[in-house]
Amino acid sequence: MKKLNIKNGPQNVSAVIQGCMRMPEHSREDAAKVIRAAYDAGVNFFDHATCYGYGEAEVRFAEAFPLTGIKREDIFIQSKCGICPERGEFDWTRENILSSVDAILGRLKTDYLDTLLLHRPDLLFEPEEVAEAFDTLEKSGKVRWFGVSNTMPMQTELLKRYVKQPLVINQLQLSLEQSQLIDQGLYMNNKTTDMSVSRDGSALDYCRLNDITIQAWSPLQKGMFGGTFIDDPEYPELNKVLGELAEREGVTKAAVAVAWILRHPAKMQVIIGTMDPAHIRETCQASDVELSHNDWYRLYLSSGKFLP
Ligand SMILES: NC(=O)c1ccc[n+]([C@@H]2O[C@H](COP(=O)([O-])OP(=O)(O)OC[C@H]3O[C@@H](n4cnc5c(N)ncnc54)[C@H](OP(=O)(O)O)[C@@H]3O)[C@@H](O)[C@H]2O)c1
Repeated sequence: MKKLNIKNGPQNVSAVIQGCMRMPEHSREDAAKVIRAAYDAGVNFFDHATCYGYGEAEVRFAEAFPLTGIKREDIFIQSKCGICPERGEFDWTRENILSSVDAILGRLKTDYLDTLLLHRPDLLFEPEEVAEAFDTLEKSGKVRWFGVSNTMPMQTELLKRYVKQPLVINQLQLSLEQSQLIDQGLYMNNKTTDMSVSRDGSALDYCRLNDITIQAWSPLQKGMFGGTFIDDPEYPELNKVLGELAEREGVTKAAVAVAWILRHPAKMQVIIGTMDPAHIRETCQASDVELSHNDWYRLYLSSGKFLP
């Protein structure tokens, strides 16, 4: 498994992250198999959020973790706060950030989070309050590093003006099918396609310019949570090219789809969400796949794009 050093952040983190959003539906024993399979495949980074199963993902992880025999200090645990489905709002107030982290640590049964991300922008956020919360969390040792998720560059800039700690991560959606993070850079100024529309204020280039590591979420999904495009007959050309490269590399199509993200020079991490140990092992082989410049373009174009 390839390891990355996040500038001003955690070092030696795995390029593939195990996401735990889908863990609540699984038993303690099955969750332990997921954690162990990921760890044995070289994953040392696990992603959570307060809203995954309304906290149940973190509870299940903590119940399962002792069964794995893995030491807490050998892994990085990340969680996110700010999405409050029970209240129908997003909340980045000082009070909510602090109480969320206390609740996360209680559910995960750990003294500290390696990284805390603000999950989605609270439209009423006051950056001074976020700064106060981060200072308190850093001083108490409850959080080691900080970042954001799904934020626009100017929202991140606004935060950075007040927050002392470096924002080292932005977790953003990216897959071959949901590639808008990349598309706008290709189609700029082109009136014939709405792929030229800048939907995120050039978040990709902004993150690269500011040493913010992108964590790509839902690398196999179509739409928001529309199921995977792998083996979906509605994506024949994409599956044909994925299949050809998978055969050449001796891996699965899912591994090639993840390798496509890892091949990007932004050096992103990819968060996989499968809860099937065999799928975890297979998909982590993405780290060993070396896609050429031309492979990368072939995959991109086969997902329904064209060279302008
Ligand atoms: N920041 C955000 O706003 C945000 C939003 C969404 C997700 N996330 C994070 O991203 C993580 C990953 O999201 P995701 O679960 O949507 O990612 P994903 O890896 O794109 O999708 C996983 C799903 O694809 C299925 N799948 C079907 N065939 C597969 C195959 N051959 N190999 C692997 N998986 C296959 C899995 O089913 P099986 O379990 O049966 O394999 C699972 O249901 C989440 O756990 C969460 O940590 C963040």
